[in-house]
Amino acid sequence: MPTPRAVYTHGQHESVLRAYRWRTAANSAGYLLSHLRAGDRLLDVGCGPGTITAGLADAVAPGPVTALDSSDEAIAQARLTLAARGDIAYVVADAHRLDFPDATFDVVHAHQVLQHVADPVGALREMRRVCRPDGYVAVRDSDYAAFTWYPEIPELTDWLGLYQRLARANGGEPDAGRRLLSWARAAGYRDVTATSSTWCFANEADRAWWGSLWADRLRLSAFGEQALAGGVSRADLERLAAGWLAWAAAPDGWLSILHGEILARP
Ligand SMILES: C[S@@+](CC[C@H](N)C(=O)[O-])C[C@H]1O[C@@H](n2cnc3c(N)ncnc32)[C@H](O)[C@@H]1O
Repeated sequence: MPTPRAVYTHGQHESVLRAYRWRTAANSAGYLLSHLRAGDRLLDVGCGPGTITAGLADAVAPGPVTALDSSDEAIAQARLTLAARGDIAYVVADAHRLDFPDATFDVVHAHQVLQHVADPVGALREMRRVCRPDGYVAVRDSDYAAFTWYPEIPELTDWLGLYQRLARANGGEPDAGRRLLSWARAAGYRDVTATSSTWCFANEADRAWWGSLWADRLRLSAFGEQALAGGVSRADLERLAAGWLAWAAAPDGWLSILHGEILARP
């Protein structure tokens, strides 16, 4: 069977990695942390630059950690982030085809990955296969349709519509958070705890960081290039970028990002 393919919407531009590097196990994997044990063998699928992987590695130390991503560039970044740690294996591979024997890991984790893959149920089946039967598969994905913000800046509504259109054209599902439970059930998990949590950006520093990184992503990253290729004009991208900067400059600017989470027993 050929591996299902999706195009990764964000690419690996510096403005994208700037967003990912803020993430930690504490701010992005809180639902999992209390279940981790020293010595657990952990696989982080779609590890990106590895800042969450680092915190997970601390929690399972001295357990061995495997950082996996389909992008060579992401794995190169993860190697830099995790350079000081000994017991990390690095693998470039596709989540749909994990080249590990059954039950290799105690914990299999994926953060903001299933929304980008062509077959999330198939990827969840693979994650289940490589996880020990009494281990944990832990997945968290945002849900773009549930992003909520203030003030009501029309350009942000347009940005959301553009993002959803491009992500779907690339073979992904941007409103993934609400679907994780259903995907896990379809993948055959027997015991699934589904929760949600949020990130909230509502002070001057957080707004400046988030607003400017999305302005840069619209102007400079693969997302902007895909929008141009899809018929969006450069002027329109500039308009959306200006919308994010206007939101960042608003003293009452507030943004909440909802994530679905599942903690599943294979
Ligand atoms: C949104 S980033 C998340 C990175 C990291 N987990 C984090 O939250 O900081 C998604 C990552 O998944 C990777 N990815 C996308 N499709 C993949 C696939 N089919 N298999 C493995 N990794 C994939 C991308 O290269 C990217 O590094």
